[in-house]
Amino acid sequence: MMIQERKVYVTRLQEGAVLSRDVLNDRGQLVLPNATHLTPSLIVRLKQMGIIEVWVAEAMIGPAAPLQEESPAEPTHVSSQPKPTIFDHNSSMIECMEDLFREAQANGRVELGTTKRLLRDFAESCSQERNFLHLVINLRTFDEYTFQHSVGVGMLSRQIGEWMGLDEKECEELLLAGTLHDIGKCRIDPAILQKPSRLTEEEYEIVKHHAHYGYEILRNSGVNPRVAAAAHEHHERCDGSGYPRGLQHEQIAPIARIVAVADVFNAMTSRRVYKDALSYYSVLDELQQDAFGALDPEVVQKFVRKMTSFFVGNEVVLNDGTVGTVVLVPPDRPTRPLLRTDGGFVDLLQRSDLYIEIVRAI
Ligand SMILES: [Fe+2]
Repeated sequence: MMIQERKVYVTRLQEGAVLSRDVLNDRGQLVLPNATHLTPSLIVRLKQMGIIEVWVAEAMIGPAAPLQEESPAEPTHVSSQPKPTIFDHNSSMIECMEDLFREAQANGRVELGTTKRLLRDFAESCSQERNFLHLVINLRTFDEYTFQHSVGVGMLSRQIGEWMGLDEKECEELLLAGTLHDIGKCRIDPAILQKPSRLTEEEYEIVKHHAHYGYEILRNSGVNPRVAAAAHEHHERCDGSGYPRGLQHEQIAPIARIVAVADVFNAMTSRRVYKDALSYYSVLDELQQDAFGALDPEVVQKFVRKMTSFFVGNEVVLNDGTVGTVVLVPPDRPTRPLLRTDGGFVDLLQRSDLYIEIVRAI
């Protein structure tokens, strides 16, 4: 008998699976040790902690039996099948994105029927999540960067549209546009996209082509021109400093200005090979200060205010190790809330030496 291991999405884990490597959180702390036998409650805990994938041991005799394949449902058992969770929808979307990227690379165009259907299910599942922060934390990007990032940006773009009062049709366009914004990356050398260190100037110039490639692929696919414009213009910046065309504020499609904010937030709060995720608060703080280039101020303000309002009641950890609960978010400085701690209250408006390092969704 030969023992092998494979990486499995937490959403696909089955009771009895055995970890083949330690599971660490995004701070590098041990969550579960190697050789742990997974019980249903441990699997739930992994999901709650935002762990996306784990390595499990796979006992194989003869040809490999895929651990994560579910056996076909017996017709008589269909009614007892558990309802797909948001993580299941998320996994389906990631698989769908992988297929879509392959199709775009091979044919220069994509067929979006399945994607739209899966997106509808995913959006419905997201809308049932009461704690939006929980959703954002759990859909963070880890290893499957491009695909999970695409799914996360679609979900966030749609949500921003809703917060900005756009109608249902526009929100659906945003969901699709956010999900497809980086489709042009299918034509970029994977060795550059997955490079485990910062890109050289030359490599960065190559990556920049993805915006135009995405536009071409989506126009060839006959999608709504606004969705194609989002792929083309999501790296444009209001002060003309963006690419590929250096457009100014009003020249950039409104849909692209929203996708740009979702893209920057998701990218900065996701862990990449070469960097740790930044804390939500520091990214929101820097978004407000235009630290990532001139994003649309109206979109940024709406996004930061809404996002910070979800932190009320959540536990946070400060840079000095103090643990507190967010009790009040000042509307003009939403990233400097009032906290309740064991020792009383800490007002971050008055304590410029302190900042929030970790947010724990409850
Ligand atoms: Fe991009």
